[in-house]
Amino acid sequence: MARTVRPRVFVTRQLPGEALGRLGRLVDLHVWPQELPPSRDTLLAEAARSEGLVTLLTDQVDARLLAQAPGLRVVSNVAVGYDNIDVPACTERRVVVGNTPGALTETSADFAFALILGLARRVAEADAYVRAGHWRTWSPTLLLGTDVYGATLGIVGPGAIGSAVARRARGFGMRILYVSREPRPALEQETGARRVDKATLLSEADILTLHVPLTPQTRHWVGRAELAAMKPGALLVNTARGGVVDPDALVEALREGRLGGAALDVTDPEPLPPDSPLMGLPNVLLAPHIASATHATRGRMASMAVDNLLAALEGRRPPHCVNP
Ligand code: DGY
Repeated sequence: MARTVRPRVFVTRQLPGEALGRLGRLVDLHVWPQELPPSRDTLLAEAARSEGLVTLLTDQVDARLLAQAPGLRVVSNVAVGYDNIDVPACTERRVVVGNTPGALTETSADFAFALILGLARRVAEADAYVRAGHWRTWSPTLLLGTDVYGATLGIVGPGAIGSAVARRARGFGMRILYVSREPRPALEQETGARRVDKATLLSEADILTLHVPLTPQTRHWVGRAELAAMKPGALLVNTARGGVVDPDALVEALREGRLGGAALDVTDPEPLPPDSPLMGLPNVLLAPHIASATHATRGRMASMAVDNLLAALEGRRPPHCVNP
């Protein structure tokens, strides 16, 4: 950075790895020190004084924030998803937006598969059962689950993460179906996956796994009609965004037993309120949005976000830029 006055950068949380140390040597760095995100007012005030923001998916960057931040040049999101950012509004104000694709693909696919296995084979329930002292003998009917090997997996969103899940599914002898606007010949060749229409996907999948970004088109992609069209007793796994599933319809389908179970790394809202009906349902496996949470991957994401930010501050297009 050749300028004598270092650009001011606000980072909305401490990040793992070396990235913030590197950033601190190059910019006037301000890092929000607390575990919970900065309040809306704090974020607005910090944005108003900064040239760069490093944000997380909990931080809303919208037209109001941008209107109050005339000096802001870049928003670098530490996530592949960027539904927390109004990209058209940023583009209009020439604010560059970066994200971290690729860094978390395999890690997130591992976790999606962990949820598939955990839900189908009732791993969390089994753990709770043993810890509660209920285990008295081997029983032929205890905690019976669903076979993953040989089951039909339905993938909504066969992008990088969805395709990585398909590769894992192939090793489990699964029949793989997907829906997508475009055919994916490479995926089909590698995994035997077959592109089908939505109705076929819903009626034939034993396990439906979601990997689409949250957009106006994908909000409530799984709603009442879709849940009713799913194979009775099927399992739903969501590691994408909570908003892709209609939460009321989901609770109904789970309560009525039409859906066999749901594994949710993401929910709407996040975090779930303690009185959410999902908390009380035994056929629901919950996680606090941690699909990408490994030491290596979170360090990589932070590093990519810093690279994106620095490139934009230097007037270059970041390696991962989501503005058109
Ligand atoms: C993302 O990157 O969008 C995930 O949801 C968090 O890692």
